[in-house]
Amino acid sequence: MRRKIKPFCIELNENWMPRRYNKKLQIKLSDLRKLFCRRDLVEEILSSGEDPVIYEVYQISQSPSEGVFSAATTVLYPGKIGDEYYFTKGHFHLKEPRGEVYIGLAGRGLLLLQDRNRKIDKLSLNKGEVAFIPPNYAHRAVNIGDEKMVFLSIYPSDAGHDYEIIEREGFSKIVVGRKGKVALVDNPK
Ligand SMILES: [Fe+2]
Repeated sequence: MRRKIKPFCIELNENWMPRRYNKKLQIKLSDLRKLFCRRDLVEEILSSGEDPVIYEVYQISQSPSEGVFSAATTVLYPGKIGDEYYFTKGHFHLKEPRGEVYIGLAGRGLLLLQDRNRKIDKLSLNKGEVAFIPPNYAHRAVNIGDEKMVFLSIYPSDAGHDYEIIEREGFSKIVVGRKGKVALVDNPK
């Protein structure tokens, strides 16, 4: 018989962090070294002894059963490598018919969505905006502001994360800041 999961509520603190979480992930530049376009600049920074934190994830994970939701608060720091804004790694869901909702809590950001044919869609994900990610789209958040971008994601617990394709092939477009403007350009890699 399926285990019954009880309803529960978790409070977010004044910085939008869940007061209780099961896992905290800290992603540094070295974890994304293959994903930024200017790999030469990444290696330069790392060889100087620096390894800045790009984002942190506070996960409220539940058992991976059908119909159960998990959630996470992500804090994506502001910054660029060359002219490419800091981003989250990005992933497809392992289980294909699984969507997700991102709720912008602080800062200014974008959400890149890439389908299986590498076609890109872009959504705004500023504070107070709610983005709906359909199934079968890889998704990546990009901080295009000068302060922390914080968002809450709510996803089916059995969705799973497939980072491999993105690590291998990247997104077909990248988000850059040039001459004070934010632009979506072809990934030169
Ligand atoms: Fe996801």
